[in-house]
Amino acid sequence: MKKLSLPQTDLTVSNLILGLMRITELSDEEIRALFAAAREVGIDFFDHADVYGGKPHYCEQRFGDAIRLSPSEREEVVIQTKTGIRPGYFDFSKEHILESVDASLAALRTDYLDVLLLHRPDALVEPEEVAAAFDELESAGKVRRFGVSNHTPGQIELLKKYVRQPLPFNQVQLSITHAPLIAAGVASNMQGLDQSISRDNGLLDYSRLNDMTLQAWSPFQKQFFNGVFLGDREEYPELNDAIDELAAKYEVTPTAIAVAWITRHPADFQVVLGTTKPERVREAAAGSDLPLTREEWYRLFTAAGYLVP
Ligand SMILES: NC(=O)c1ccc[n+]([C@@H]2O[C@H](COP(=O)([O-])OP(=O)(O)OC[C@H]3O[C@@H](n4cnc5c(N)ncnc54)[C@H](OP(=O)(O)O)[C@@H]3O)[C@@H](O)[C@H]2O)c1
Repeated sequence: MKKLSLPQTDLTVSNLILGLMRITELSDEEIRALFAAAREVGIDFFDHADVYGGKPHYCEQRFGDAIRLSPSEREEVVIQTKTGIRPGYFDFSKEHILESVDASLAALRTDYLDVLLLHRPDALVEPEEVAAAFDELESAGKVRRFGVSNHTPGQIELLKKYVRQPLPFNQVQLSITHAPLIAAGVASNMQGLDQSISRDNGLLDYSRLNDMTLQAWSPFQKQFFNGVFLGDREEYPELNDAIDELAAKYEVTPTAIAVAWITRHPADFQVVLGTTKPERVREAAAGSDLPLTREEWYRLFTAAGYLVP
């Protein structure tokens, strides 16, 4: 498992993260097996959100109840959660951030969060309130590091004008088939081409210039929660041919190739896995440090439908 020394932090952690968004239906035993598989392959970073599970803090609670970490085990892992999504709206008010973190700590059965992310940009954000909430959480020892998710460079700059703590993380959607983050830059300034439109105001370059680590969510999803591209030969025949060929060449599974397409990028992404299957965690781990060649990386990109002009 490749480890990354994350800029702007004291953390050296795995470049794969286990996401716990989909554990609602698992038994405690299955949650423990999933966690154990992640730890065995070297994953030490776990991603939650207050909103996962259909009711507030439900996935956090299922995890906390199933995985009773001893103090020494707790220190060996990074637990990240998110706040800011409420049913039907977003809420970055100080009051909500504080109450949400308290409920996350209780559900996760821990005294501190290693990382807290603001989940999706709140149109009504008042950055002074966010700053006040972060100060209170930091000085109480409840949260050690802060970051954002799905934020644009301008939204981050606005927060940075008020927030005193570094913002080293931004969690964003990225897979081979959902890659506007990367694809717009490859086809910059081309009239009439949808790919050329920047949907995030240059987030990738901004993140690299400002030492922010991007965490890629939904690494196997076709688009927005509409199923996986792996094995979907009807919609992605060329891509699956290319993936299968590379999987055979490197003696790994297609899952590892999908991970490797992201980890190969020099921006040093972390990849947030959403699988609920221990076996898939093990398969994905083989993509943590698999150096696809430049030609192979671009072949997957074009086979997914992107243009290399
Ligand atoms: N910040 C945000 O806004 C945001 C949004 C969404 C998610 N996230 C985070 O990102 C994590 C990952 O998101 P995600 O779950 O959408 O990502 P994902 O890993 O792309 O998708 C996981 C889903 O795909 C299935 N799957 C994976 N490989 C498969 C294969 N080869 N064949 C068939 N099915 C396969 C899994 O089924 P099995 O369980 O059967 O393997 C699971 O249902 C979440 O857990 C969460 O922590 C963050």
